[in-house]
Amino acid sequence: MENPADIGIIGLAVMGANLARNFASHGFRTAVYNRTPARTDAFLAQYGSEGTFRGSRTLSEFVASLARPRKIMLMIQAGAPVDACLGELVPLLEPGDIVMDGGNSFYKDTLRRGHELAAKRLHYLGVGISGGEEGALHGPSLMPGGDDAAWPVVKPLLTAIAARADGEPCCGWIGPEGAGHYVKMVHNGIEYADMQLIAEAYGYLRDRVGLGSAAIGEVFTKWSHGVLAGYLLDITGGIFKVRDSETGAPLVELILDAPGQKGTGRWTSETALELNVPTPTLTTAVLQRNLDADKAGRLRAAQLLAGPDEIDPLSPEDTGDIVDALESALYASKICAYAQGFELLKAAERQFGWRLDCGSIALLWRGGCIIRARFLGDIRKAYERNPQLENLMFDDFFRNALELEQDGWRLTVADGALSGTALPAMASALSYYDSRRRAAAPSNLIQAQRDCFGAHTFERIDRPRGQIFHQNWNL
Ligand code: 6PG
Repeated sequence: MENPADIGIIGLAVMGANLARNFASHGFRTAVYNRTPARTDAFLAQYGSEGTFRGSRTLSEFVASLARPRKIMLMIQAGAPVDACLGELVPLLEPGDIVMDGGNSFYKDTLRRGHELAAKRLHYLGVGISGGEEGALHGPSLMPGGDDAAWPVVKPLLTAIAARADGEPCCGWIGPEGAGHYVKMVHNGIEYADMQLIAEAYGYLRDRVGLGSAAIGEVFTKWSHGVLAGYLLDITGGIFKVRDSETGAPLVELILDAPGQKGTGRWTSETALELNVPTPTLTTAVLQRNLDADKAGRLRAAQLLAGPDEIDPLSPEDTGDIVDALESALYASKICAYAQGFELLKAAERQFGWRLDCGSIALLWRGGCIIRARFLGDIRKAYERNPQLENLMFDDFFRNALELEQDGWRLTVADGALSGTALPAMASALSYYDSRRRAAAPSNLIQAQRDCFGAHTFERIDRPRGQIFHQNWNL
């Protein structure tokens, strides 16, 4: 075949289509295939003039249109569809060909598929892609992992289309097996926490401070120029400006408060539990989506369950201080959420032997992805100062920030509790902070109880670790 394609994309839903356009706009000859040929036709009709595309109506035609070793990116729904697609694709490939999965696949699936394809002398990569539709088109954050022999071959392609931050591409080799998708999963766990924390700030401003949507939007916009600067806060400020075309009301006020989820946040929490990494704030964000999704149940509970009797109103002249305290609570909680996410990254070394470079990952997330924020530059610096950093909160910059912000943080969480305004992720972050820094936990009592009812034994503080004791409690 003359002028074979540099890259092939399977799946032309919006992410796949935009990624194909991104490759083509960087001068790569791009082959495209979709299970429903009508979609390929529509894609070519709409975007065919943007670059050099080669559309195929069958998978074998698609495979034949690619330069060897073939480089194929799957942009299809995670789960069974990926296995089904591989089932058809793999028999058409030759040793040395490279298959990349750019979907939000569960890292354990990627690990399994990598082994299956390696047995056929094919290279498999799980490529975490973040940035939504816009990112896919103009520069996503890319987290490739898997068979490292394939990395030098696909590196020029992937780095060309990635976002850039501080002049560097937001794309770097993550590690073997499912490491790329593992890191994308943790990204999404953090994304859930970030979004939940912002939503809690919104709820507090609306229900406790009594601000209207326009004023709330202004608060978020103001914050988006400070330490909290980042994509999510940026779009949040903008969201409050959008009005419903029918009623003229701020559209956000008309949206049903029942959040959806596709499961990546849950995977993060399940993995954290499996690996014994405490990620309470990330998990609270998932639990809160579950709780909030049950609108009917909340409406029933609202009729049945009492809040505090007397709530001290907040005086309007204090609004400035209250909003500043809330900003502190948001920032400090965010630090805790990221500390939890990065601990989960480090745990991958213990569990899988993947040495994930936290500083480089912070750089990949600095641009292109949903959680991109100025703050990730500070995280990068923290890991540059100490690549072995045990917990992000222990770095001087973040330690000082937490110390500085904690008064406002405590005030906000306490006021939320006293006024009956739910701040679950902020409160969980504060408890995480306080329990992490507590030299003496109360869990000596738990050990005593376990030994009392189940002879589970305990260690003593005045004896070497590992020496086991049992008491006949005789109550
Ligand atoms: C990204 C997003 C992206 C997607 C999430 C949304 O990094 O670009 O995380 O992957 O928007 O899957 O997840 P939920 O539907 O679970 O909120």
